[in-house]
Amino acid sequence: MRRVLVAGGAGGVGEAIVRALLDAGDVEVLATSRSAARLNALAASLEPGLRPRLSRIVGEAGSFEGAARIVAEVEARGGADVAIALLGRGFWSSGPLLSLDPREWNAVLDEMLTAHFAFARAAIPMLAARRDSLYLSIGGGAAFTPVPDAALMSIAAAGQLMLTRALAAERGEASPRICELVIDGPVRTRDSADFAEASWIGADEVARSVVEIAFGAAPPTVVVIGGRDRAARVRPPGYSGRENAL
Ligand SMILES: NC(=O)c1ccc[n+]([C@@H]2O[C@H](COP(=O)([O-])OP(=O)(O)OC[C@H]3O[C@@H](n4cnc5c(N)ncnc54)[C@H](OP(=O)(O)O)[C@@H]3O)[C@@H](O)[C@H]2O)c1
Repeated sequence: MRRVLVAGGAGGVGEAIVRALLDAGDVEVLATSRSAARLNALAASLEPGLRPRLSRIVGEAGSFEGAARIVAEVEARGGADVAIALLGRGFWSSGPLLSLDPREWNAVLDEMLTAHFAFARAAIPMLAARRDSLYLSIGGGAAFTPVPDAALMSIAAAGQLMLTRALAAERGEASPRICELVIDGPVRTRDSADFAEASWIGADEVARSVVEIAFGAAPPTVVVIGGRDRAARVRPPGYSGRENAL
């Protein structure tokens, strides 16, 4: 039985990933949220047959203390082979950069970038104890493009992507493999279903890619889904090689 820790598993993209992982078969999922109610809603949304393989962990995966507590709890329950970090938000606007309140700058980078470092710092040593383990960060294509009036989102996403690449470069071939799945475009989730456009990537499609990365051949450091020409240019057939060109 493969064990997968999903930090942020009760969010819009996270719930689709949790369901797809459980659907994949011989998998136990440990999902975290800061909210017990959101985890309970996630469990209730699953088919009854899948629920016994979902463990709920209430905690703050994006703080240094919270991530350490969550990882200690996962280790006490038998550890994990895969950790997935879904720490952030869907599309959001912070307004023009020069109008930003410095407190918002600090708060957003803390919530969206430092959170990824905090979780990686706790989860990677746990995964290192297992062969063929994987640390998978889920990021956004804003990392590639300055989005006017939402540039803070781009800055956080670019920082998250460089964090992944730097961790992969520092750790080389050591377990776990380090990978980021960059979703290049908005995602149709339960929350965005009312206003999502037909061209948006479905959360189920993102979830299928996650299952492929988690249980397939060793992925490169960066995998991009969505986008237009970029997808064809960057996504490598069969995920061969450690990192595809950006
Ligand atoms: N939605 C999109 O259009 C889109 C597009 C491209 C990429 N993405 C990527 O997908 C990720 C998830 O998007 P989503 O639409 O599923 O967002 P969401 O519904 O807002 O869910 C975000 C999840 O992240 C967790 N989280 C956020 N900040 C955290 C922090 N500082 N510490 C701990 N947990 C934190 C939340 O956990 P709690 O349950 O504790 O609140 C929640 O489960 C984004 O971060 C982004 O990188 C999304």
